[in-house]
Amino acid sequence: MSSRTVIRGGLVITASDEIHADVLIEDGRIAALAASGTSAAEAFTGERTIDATGKYVIPGGVDAHTHMELPFGGTFASDTFETGTRAAAWGGTTTIVDFAVQSVGHSLREGLDAWHAKAEGNCAIDYGFHMIVSDVNQETLKEMDLLVEEGVTSFKQFMAYPGVFYSDDGQILRAMQRSAENGGLIMMHAENGIAIDVLVEQALARGETDPRYHGEVRKALLEAEATHRAIKLAQVAGAPLYVVHVSAMEAVAELARARDEGLNVFGETCPQYLFLSTDNLAEPDFEGSKYVCSTPLRPKEHQAKLWQGLRTNDLQVVSTDHCPFCFVGQKELGRGDFSKIPNGLPGVENRMDLLHQAVVDGHITRRRWIEIACATPARMFGMYPKKGTIAPGADADVVIYDPHAEQVLSVETHHMNVDYSAYEGKRITGRVESVLSRGELVITEREYTGHAGHGVYTPRSTCQYLN
Ligand code: URP
Ligand code: ZN
Ligand code: ZN
Ligand code: ZN
Repeated sequence: MSSRTVIRGGLVITASDEIHADVLIEDGRIAALAASGTSAAEAFTGERTIDATGKYVIPGGVDAHTHMELPFGGTFASDTFETGTRAAAWGGTTTIVDFAVQSVGHSLREGLDAWHAKAEGNCAIDYGFHMIVSDVNQETLKEMDLLVEEGVTSFKQFMAYPGVFYSDDGQILRAMQRSAENGGLIMMHAENGIAIDVLVEQALARGETDPRYHGEVRKALLEAEATHRAIKLAQVAGAPLYVVHVSAMEAVAELARARDEGLNVFGETCPQYLFLSTDNLAEPDFEGSKYVCSTPLRPKEHQAKLWQGLRTNDLQVVSTDHCPFCFVGQKELGRGDFSKIPNGLPGVENRMDLLHQAVVDGHITRRRWIEIACATPARMFGMYPKKGTIAPGADADVVIYDPHAEQVLSVETHHMNVDYSAYEGKRITGRVESVLSRGELVITEREYTGHAGHGVYTPRSTCQYLN
């Protein structure tokens, strides 16, 4: 028995087009589009019709950077795959790519198996995995080839966090050389962690223990230096490079220069860097801890350069780096020592709305909104056109978005399992109304109608965004 849904009368927005069209969904996929009001559209029939008059019909969001249940800083990120993917659905995201972790002394396979076990049967929306490589050795390098073949085609390395996730330049170069051969994409956490640790030690010795010092020691120059170094190592290896969570304007300049040289170098930023700043880190009574993440929030003047980078395509993707820790009991681990505050911010539910607000505010166009939040992350990580667009054959991951609804972001109303909102009180024009994941309504007119286990693992091809 086939199941059909028709979405009528909305403005369908993709990265390339805006058209008033009706959308026919059959068996979980987009079957056809036809201009609304034409005989072709009127011929669409289904068991279910969704009236999208006055609304946007957009591809489900693809959030290529989340950390559900991440063990970090002596605790675990507070969203599980169940709670975090449900919150993602509420926010109009229908695919996440989360980071499986290789612990030092263990294989990539052990890490990947552990992350599959956490996610399987629990997700409300589809999911894939990147692999954090913490221990580059001959075995790990061989395993990278196998992972690429089975759909884990991207590997995160850290120039920060010595003793935890850190790789030295030799390990980075070897992994990049391997990815140049096997088609993998290296994702870099670009901060000079060795130098940062010296500055942390010196700050604490001076009695500088408040959250705001987290931002002061993790200097923009040390992000730029690491970004530059990563670019040069990738160039030597002949490998593409994707720099995650770019926050410093000096790092954007490094990426822009490399791209002007024609290199396959890409950059991701996150809503927290576009909307928040060191002013938040400086909030009194340890409230600043709510905004501790790495790379850190920067002074406000960096924001304009990040928006500019998004417009000029020197930055290509906005992901959340969703890594929530509750204020009570988790962020509080760092009272009296900012270096013990678990790093990370919640946001998987807020990204599509914040970026729509950026459209309203004139930072980006509607089509660029869809490009940076849906289409390019899908292409970058080998899921296009199954994910990231509305076109015949694509998965029917579709959001009905009301561009005129008003909402106020708040911990009182969000669905993430965390006891604060990083955007408390922020007014947003626009709101998700309904969400389909592979043709199934998971949010129906502001009601959750999905279920844990609906989301399936999505193996990925290699990067589809290379020059
Ligand atoms: O502060 C952050 N970003 N926490 C998550 C881990 C990472 O580095 O992405
Ligand atoms: Zn990182
Ligand atoms: Zn991250
Ligand atoms: Zn289902």
